[in-house]
Amino acid sequence: MPTVLITGANRGLGLEFALQYAADGWRVHACCRNPSIASDLAELAEGAKGQVVVHRLDLCDFSAVDALADELSSEPIDLLLNNAGVYTKGGYAAAVYDKAFGKSDFEDWEKVFRVNAFAPMKMAEAFVDHLASTEQGKLVTISSDMGSIGLNSTGGSYSYRSSKAAVNCLMRSLSLDLAEKGIIVALLHPGWVSTDMGGPDADITPQTSVSGMRGVIESLKPGQTGCFKSYQGKTLPW
Ligand SMILES: NC(=O)c1ccc[n+]([C@@H]2O[C@H](COP(=O)([O-])OP(=O)(O)OC[C@H]3O[C@@H](n4cnc5c(N)ncnc54)[C@H](OP(=O)(O)O)[C@@H]3O)[C@@H](O)[C@H]2O)c1
Repeated sequence: MPTVLITGANRGLGLEFALQYAADGWRVHACCRNPSIASDLAELAEGAKGQVVVHRLDLCDFSAVDALADELSSEPIDLLLNNAGVYTKGGYAAAVYDKAFGKSDFEDWEKVFRVNAFAPMKMAEAFVDHLASTEQGKLVTISSDMGSIGLNSTGGSYSYRSSKAAVNCLMRSLSLDLAEKGIIVALLHPGWVSTDMGGPDADITPQTSVSGMRGVIESLKPGQTGCFKSYQGKTLPW
């Protein structure tokens, strides 16, 4: 039974990843900030009888990341999914419609960077041995086409865009540095998805997005390490 560890697994894309991998027979380590209110995850874990384990993990707390890595030290992890992410204080409207220029909240910006860029790097550092101890470890980070500099034709969203561009850069470097350990590193854009972050007008459901991403993850080969792809498998520009 392969093993996946997912951050931000209590709602949105993270929850859907947990549901789909569990249904497919994977062992799932589902991380979330507050298990006591993660009712959908609790229900999944209860029905899965030990196959799904819920862990408390706030990604702003790097000592908690180390503690979880220690707790799971004997467990090889086939797939580490850096899924958790934040947009910005005030959400999409604050970031895009007023363009936020001249109103930058740099304190909030630091928090966005901590979750979207530093935490995926910290997770990679903490769990590298777990990934290296499987036949084909995969480190996959849910990025965004909004982190693509080449695709930016609308401006705004400074903190979110820059944090996703940063994580793209970090994961690309990691793909080169971890190649000798046999770990495949990839970045995925999930599409515009109807979650709390994506809102109700989004193009696709979490089910469609996650099914697509799982297909892309499954098909990743060592020669593709360092790629940036959409949920449909299309290579995206940096
Ligand atoms: N939805 C889209 O259209 C879209 C498009 C492009 C990229 N993405 C990316 O896809 C990923 C998942 O997004 P989503 O749409 O599922 O968003 P979401 O519905 O807003 O869920 C975000 C998840 O991240 C978790 N999270 C936030 N800060 C955290 C922290 N400090 N520690 C641990 N967990 C934290 C949240 O936990 P809490 O419940 O505790 O807040 C929640 O589980 C993100 O990386 C996002 O940037 C989404």
